[in-house]
Amino acid sequence: MTAPHKNVPPGLLFEPFKIKTVEALPFSSQREREQWIQDVHYNVFALNSAQVMIDLLTDSGTSAMSDLQWADMMKADEAYAGSRTFLELQATARELTGMPEILPVHQGRAAEHLLFSSLLSGGETIPSNGLFDTTLANIQDCGATGINLPCAEALDPFAENPFKGNIDLEQLEKLLAQKDSKIPLVVMTITNNTGGGQPVSYQNLEAVSKLCKKHKKFFVLDACRFAENSYFIKSREAGFANLSPREIASKCFALCDAVTFSGKKDALVNIGGLLCVRDAALGDRLKNRMLVVEGFPTYGGLAAYSMAAMNQGLHEVLDEKYLEYRLRTISWIVERLAAAGVPVLRPAGGHAVYLEASNFFPHIDRENLPGIALTTALYTEGGIRGCELGTVAFGYRDSHGKHVLPHLDLVRLAIPRRVYTEAHMGYVVNCLVDMHRRRDDFVGFEFLEEFPVLRHFRSKFRKLGS
Ligand code: F0G
Repeated sequence: MTAPHKNVPPGLLFEPFKIKTVEALPFSSQREREQWIQDVHYNVFALNSAQVMIDLLTDSGTSAMSDLQWADMMKADEAYAGSRTFLELQATARELTGMPEILPVHQGRAAEHLLFSSLLSGGETIPSNGLFDTTLANIQDCGATGINLPCAEALDPFAENPFKGNIDLEQLEKLLAQKDSKIPLVVMTITNNTGGGQPVSYQNLEAVSKLCKKHKKFFVLDACRFAENSYFIKSREAGFANLSPREIASKCFALCDAVTFSGKKDALVNIGGLLCVRDAALGDRLKNRMLVVEGFPTYGGLAAYSMAAMNQGLHEVLDEKYLEYRLRTISWIVERLAAAGVPVLRPAGGHAVYLEASNFFPHIDRENLPGIALTTALYTEGGIRGCELGTVAFGYRDSHGKHVLPHLDLVRLAIPRRVYTEAHMGYVVNCLVDMHRRRDDFVGFEFLEEFPVLRHFRSKFRKLGS
């Protein structure tokens, strides 16, 4: 059910909000865009946002905030210590997560940095269902190694399985049981951004929690899309239909020892995050460290007005009508693309549409970067900005200079929360269907300048034949 009443035309997305403030879309011509993308060597990260019509680069920090969030920002208490706004946010986060220690931080990676630099000393291995790139970078920054153990279903981009974000429990158990392994903690990411925004089941989280208890490991939840994951559990997992997303979220949080949280996703804010921990002694250590790298523990890295917006966002995001609309938006796009034969990752994830670029352009060799061909074509044809999360982002050179390619060659179209309408999404679908029909017209790329880490952000490319 997407509609709140029976007279909504079938298939239509019924946005559960009305619009109070608007921002003009920056229109441009294809000819202008062809010049602009050539000027930045075909890396969409180097474009000005004024050159982008529909910006699907990320769902992070791009939400439209509500009237209540803006109103609470005006009422925020900017006291350096003991701010009323912090106490309100602390109460909300404690009630939701069940964790007594609540540390406000400027964004998710600050929570990761604080936690990992306090728990890791180097040489450890950190298993996960799927580490986001900043999470992995923070683990590596401490001298440790991250290892992704996605479930087998996740390897087939088109298999319809309800919980493709799950970890492979057998592999995890095997790893944890190894005597000489140095594994202090396990990270579960909900939803699994790296694996296509796919949800993790409660059952899987519970099993990980049991394994962590058995092997005395610390269990961390990277929960920046916890509300979307909760609604997936409600709608797909047996036994959860009658629980509210809030109740489901609380059950998930009860399984772990710490939560790293980027508020830029499911707290519907433009900046902000939280680090929540159960153990008071660890909380104390983290607060001491926080004083050095973020700020006083009652504001962390944030203005009180950002904490106020995050507090209100944490309430709004758990509204069932909102979550139903939010997940329906993604599946609405995926259904239309799949029906037209466009290779799109299935089933629909929670925050983004993922295209399989090497299937989209089968005539472009993977070394010739089909994902860059796709992000470039989407931009020049439609003014739409997506993000390559395939060969460029996750591929690397081994010690012999050989290019190691990731399993999937994905391009992500992340959908900002409460920002675009159904007409905008229909336009994105039509652009893709049209491009797919003319797929043989598009050519591959090669590196002009290749950066060694997180290559997709700053590398430059050359169009073949130009
Ligand atoms: N964990 C996950 C699963 C994320 O997706 C992100 C950010 C972070 C942690 C880090 O949070 O940006 O607040 O420091 N993801 C963004 C994205 C950047 O586009 O997917 P942050």
